[in-house]
Amino acid sequence: MSEPIRVLVTGAAGQIAYSLLYSIGNGSVFGKDQPIILVLLDITPMMGVLDGVLMELQDCALPLLKDVIATDKEDVAFKDLDVAILVGSMPRRDGMERKDLLKANVKIFKCQGAALEKYAKKSVKVIVVGNPANTNCLTAAKSAPSIPKENFSCLTRLDHNRAKAQIALKLGVTSDDVKNVIIWGNHSSTQYPDVSHAKVKLQGKEVGVYDALKDDSWLKGEFITTVQQRGAAVIKARKLSSAMSAAKAICDHVRDIWFGTPEGEFVSMGIISDGNSYGVPDDLLYSFPVTIKVKYFGDYFPCSFTKLDIFLDSRSFKFKY
Ligand code: NAI
Repeated sequence: MSEPIRVLVTGAAGQIAYSLLYSIGNGSVFGKDQPIILVLLDITPMMGVLDGVLMELQDCALPLLKDVIATDKEDVAFKDLDVAILVGSMPRRDGMERKDLLKANVKIFKCQGAALEKYAKKSVKVIVVGNPANTNCLTAAKSAPSIPKENFSCLTRLDHNRAKAQIALKLGVTSDDVKNVIIWGNHSSTQYPDVSHAKVKLQGKEVGVYDALKDDSWLKGEFITTVQQRGAAVIKARKLSSAMSAAKAICDHVRDIWFGTPEGEFVSMGIISDGNSYGVPDDLLYSFPVTIKVKYFGDYFPCSFTKLDIFLDSRSFKFKY
């Protein structure tokens, strides 16, 4: 067994965390041999609820969980982190304007970025989920200048998974038969889901999605709006925003950061643009197709490695539009 890694989940008393924490604790994200110290951060008024979450995690009796720490203190929460999953953010309230929402969240993510800078390991991988996810991620990265900017990403994997699922449903296959969809842009309804490079496995053969579906008008119309509006459709039906699917997407995203993306596959993530890819300006936090290669120390995987470098390499794909 390797040394335990320290993983923080913020917004830990919320609904996404409630679906996420068990998967982290049972080895589905960092592997079945990786012990974990799980740190749960929420705001002071939520400490009672967080206590309940802590009790439930203890009652799950998960052998990989070496410790669970519930706190409302950033110096405790951000100390020596290997991974920070920033889920908690200020939700939009009735009558709140977008600029007020942005202002409140900039404050939170500036503080949390500064706490990462001060307390976390320099190799920490930071995943921002709380909305507006792109902006919050950029704010945190800017507030932690000594942590490599490649270590910051925001979640657009839920949109990516929604796109895969829509294609799979339409073709009557399972979603793991579909790969290489792309979400461009923001985690918001302005995103652009793109399947022009996506492939689907049909009777053991990989076929382009356009060729497999032969329904360009659906792909260029209803498919795109369904993915763009899916979050709103879930809220309308459930009266609550996506939580189970968001937690699953976080697991997929973090697992790919930890272990790398499978050969021949790319996934969607919001990362900081370097200005050389797809005409997206420098320094914009934008969802791209990315491949991730993890550098290991030592020859044995997964026992003797230390994670140091992760390349979010959108430049390995040169698409022509
Ligand atoms: P929730 O309201 O159930 O939970 C949020 C939790 O964050 C609450 O317990 C709250 O007290 C906590 N929190 C607020 N400020 C905090 C701070 N400064 N530090 C630590 N904790 C803090 O919300 P839910 O459903 O869990 O969603 C969380 C966020 O994820 C929301 O912003 C939501 O819009 C976003 N989201 C993002 C998705 C994506 O694909 N990027 C998908 C789905 C949701």
